[in-house]
Amino acid sequence: MKIEGKEYRTIWFDDKSQTVKIIDQTKLPHQFIIKDLKTAKDAITAIKVMEVRGAPLIGATAAYGIVLAIMEKNDLNFIKKSSEELIQSRPTAINLKWAVDRMMKKLSGVNNNELLKAALNEANAICEEDIKFCENIGLNGLKIIQEIYSKKKDTINILTHCNAGWLATINWGTATSPIYHAHKNGIPVHVWVDETRPRNQGANLTSYELSEEEIPNTIIADNTGGILMQRGEVDMCIVGTDRTLATGDVCNKIGTYLKALAAKDNNVPFYVALPSSTIDWDIENYKDIPIEERNSEELSHIEGLDESGNVKKIQIYPKKSKSMNLAFDVTPAKYVTRLITEKGICEASSNGLKNLFNK
Ligand code: MRU
Repeated sequence: MKIEGKEYRTIWFDDKSQTVKIIDQTKLPHQFIIKDLKTAKDAITAIKVMEVRGAPLIGATAAYGIVLAIMEKNDLNFIKKSSEELIQSRPTAINLKWAVDRMMKKLSGVNNNELLKAALNEANAICEEDIKFCENIGLNGLKIIQEIYSKKKDTINILTHCNAGWLATINWGTATSPIYHAHKNGIPVHVWVDETRPRNQGANLTSYELSEEEIPNTIIADNTGGILMQRGEVDMCIVGTDRTLATGDVCNKIGTYLKALAAKDNNVPFYVALPSSTIDWDIENYKDIPIEERNSEELSHIEGLDESGNVKKIQIYPKKSKSMNLAFDVTPAKYVTRLITEKGICEASSNGLKNLFNK
């Protein structure tokens, strides 16, 4: 998608410098910085400090992390150790493990002198596949928006939470892909963007990327969605997910669950968009999903532009106050209207998912 009119992906391998390039998302929206990852450690750190974030993108970064490990030291023990550290760099999104397992499977039995080529091909294939899947999610989700538009015949107001946009994937995004496709098809859309405290991915990333694509959007405080739904000002919600269970339960950014409850109470359809790489077919009980707890400084401090236009970080809470920073919650399947995937739209249930994916 576009930034200042120029097409970008969120991650790519640069043949010339033999490095992995990323857009440093900790600097957005005030600074646009492309950063080089040169070692497996660089990839692990980028995931941990969220220079890259969003389930599909951290999966792709982990895949390139293995490429970087091979470039550093073509040694099986080192590659295995790096792959384990990559999986552990963030606990909730299943895409990390999915991508690393896929890479390691591809590399097993490959000759040492062919390892790098095989790894790079596979990491590139993971990215290409994600782009295709996100595009298909968009085309499938477009049908839902078209149906709502055929009845309303006026601007469709869509609420989204966090950033499940192209910045969270390689391109297109998951939740935003149907929105981009609707916009390209001439359907007037307006997006309510949940600010998404504490890291403000909605305000800093979703609003930024939508505005760069000229899609009308309005940032709202996280607690505003409820009243907007009561007032009939939300036609649908679309969110992403970091791990969807085979039961249809959806783990996503903290606060998603409360939006789903408000949507249910107001008969607002609540859609979750995801590529199949985000499905965890193994865990049966959502209570077994590891929920990331991040540093409380993400709550107590905030970054923005000062009066001179310089980026500044300030403390907003009393020093003595304790805070807790759970990064994800789970929305039970019963609150999810439908799942939008690359294969089609299905009920958020084991039957729905199993039928769609022939499991
Ligand atoms: O903590 P983050 O910013 O990585 O969380 C991202 C989300 O919660 C997204 O909704 C999710 O990864 C969906 S992926 C398109």
